[in-house]
Parts: sequence; C-alpha cells; structure tokens
Amino acid sequence: MSILRTTKLKTFQLLMELLFCLRQKYSHISIGSPKLSRDIKDAITIDTSTITLEQSPVLLQRFNFNRVADVLPTHEDLFYQDGKPLPCVIESDYNLSDDWLRAYNYYPFYFNIYSRLCSDNIHVRMLEIGVRTGYQATVFAKACKNPSSAFYMGIDPNLYVRNGLQLANKTLQMIRKKVPTFDFALINGYSWEYNIQESVFYSGPFDIIHIDGDHSLQGKLIDLELSKRILARGGIVLVDDFDHHPIIKDAVKKALSVGWFKEFLYLSTFRGLAILA
Ligand SMILES: C[S@@+](CC[C@H](N)C(=O)[O-])C[C@H]1O[C@@H](n2cnc3c(N)ncnc32)[C@H](O)[C@@H]1O
Repeated sequence: MSILRTTKLKTFQLLMELLFCLRQKYSHISIGSPKLSRDIKDAITIDTSTITLEQSPVLLQRFNFNRVADVLPTHEDLFYQDGKPLPCVIESDYNLSDDWLRAYNYYPFYFNIYSRLCSDNIHVRMLEIGVRTGYQATVFAKACKNPSSAFYMGIDPNLYVRNGLQLANKTLQMIRKKVPTFDFALINGYSWEYNIQESVFYSGPFDIIHIDGDHSLQGKLIDLELSKRILARGGIVLVDDFDHHPIIKDAVKKALSVGWFKEFLYLSTFRGLAILA
C-alpha cells in the first residue's frame, strides 16, 4: 500500500473517531426544528383577546379543591425518604424570595389531584413533558402508591439541569424499591421530535398528561396538540404556570377554540393551573 493511501486511510479513521466523540458528547442536542402541522398553524392565527374561559361544571365536581378541609402532605412527606432528601432535591432550589419548592399550594395541591385520580382507577398512566429533576414525578409516584398501580413516562432534553434526568432516575428507582406497583420510563429529547412523538404515541394512551416543558406559544401548542392525540378516555391534561406566563393562557384558549379539548377548569395554585379534558 502506498504511503499516500495509508495516510488517507489514517486521516479518514481519525475523522470518523472525531465524529463519534462529538456525537457522544452532544447527543442531547437535537438537530432540526419543530415542524408545525396545519392544525397548529391554524391555532396560532386565532385571536383570543375576546375569548373568555368558562369553568366546566363536570371538572369542578371532579376536582373540588382548595378547600381548607383538604389535608395536604408536607414538603418532607413528598421529597424525603428515610429521613433524607431524595436525589431530585437540589439545594439551590430552596429560594427564599420565591419559595415554590415548599409552597403549600404547589406540589401538595398536585398530590391531591393525583390521589383523587388514582383512587378512581386501578391502573393510572401519566406522561410529563418537562421533567427537570423529577419533583412532579415523585409527587405522582407517592400519590398513586395505594391501591392503584401507576406508570410514569417523562420527556426532557435536560435544558435546565444538565443531569436532571439522571437525578429523576435515581429518585424514581428509590421510590420503586418501596412501591413495587410503581414503574417509570424517562426519555431524553424534545417533545416536538418526530421519533419521540411516535414513541409516546405507541406507549399511550395516558390518563394524566402534565405539560410543563417549552414555554413558547409554538411549544405549548405542539404539546397540547400531541396531548389531544394520546389522552385516554376520561383523562385530563394539566397545564402548569397558567398565571405565570401570558402565553400559556393564550395557548389554552387557542386549543379550546380549535376543539382539541371541550372542558376547562382553572385552579388557583402557586402559579395557576389549567385542567383540560
Ligand atoms: C419547569 S421545568 C419542569 C419541572 C417539572 N415539571 C417539575 O415540576 O418537577 C421545565 C423543563 O422542560 C424541559 N423542556 C424544555 N423544552 C422542552 C421540550 N420541547 N420537550 C420536553 N421538555 C422540554 C426543560 O429541559 C426543563 O427541564
């Protein structure tokens, strides 16, 4: 073999190795961008400024919360196990000026919603778009330990916390050891990716879908449209941060206007929660 050919071959091998390393290092970064269906493009054009949202009597009856009589779990009940904080708890999340992690009307309210849903069903399946380190997943797992069996699937590209899914995985494994009727799956990626949507579709339908990922209008509509396709009969979609980002109210109004959902309920939680069915 000539020296020139050997050098070319070596260069090619080096290039391939470099490409492989880059792929490993940046596998969390998605190549491409969301493709919008006609339905989503139509929803974006709707002017929602004159639309008012009516509370659904059906959902009101089902989720009659915020009553003083409701017993709420403590922060430790939710995020501690055997006297120690679960891996999902990050020290820097304890923020005194905006104490969302310990707020009585945030995760404890969600706990009551999940408990109520789990007491009606034998097996409950939840999908969450936007996992971070798995606080919500933990609340669901703890709320649905008895008498139901429960399955949680979460999607996240680890944008906010680099090892978020790793922490969620450690947490949920610890809970699963104590609650054998609980199981879970975590997917690293964006909810708009074709392959991820297909996987989620084939894993559905889901009784509870929690939308808490991309907070842009386009991102919310993609998640709402996906949720409509994979929601089980009698299931509910929870949209967090309803009072926190004006875009979310707009997206919810658009989703109701185009008929993806028929029922709406607003619950006054820490940042506002919309329930759709
Ligand atoms: C507010 S945090 C979620 C908190 C979590 N629901 C909880 O309460 O424990 C938002 C998460 O959404 C993720 N995210 C952003 N865009 C997303 C997308 N298109 N698909 C899925 N997750 C996304 C971010 O990586 C981040 O971890």
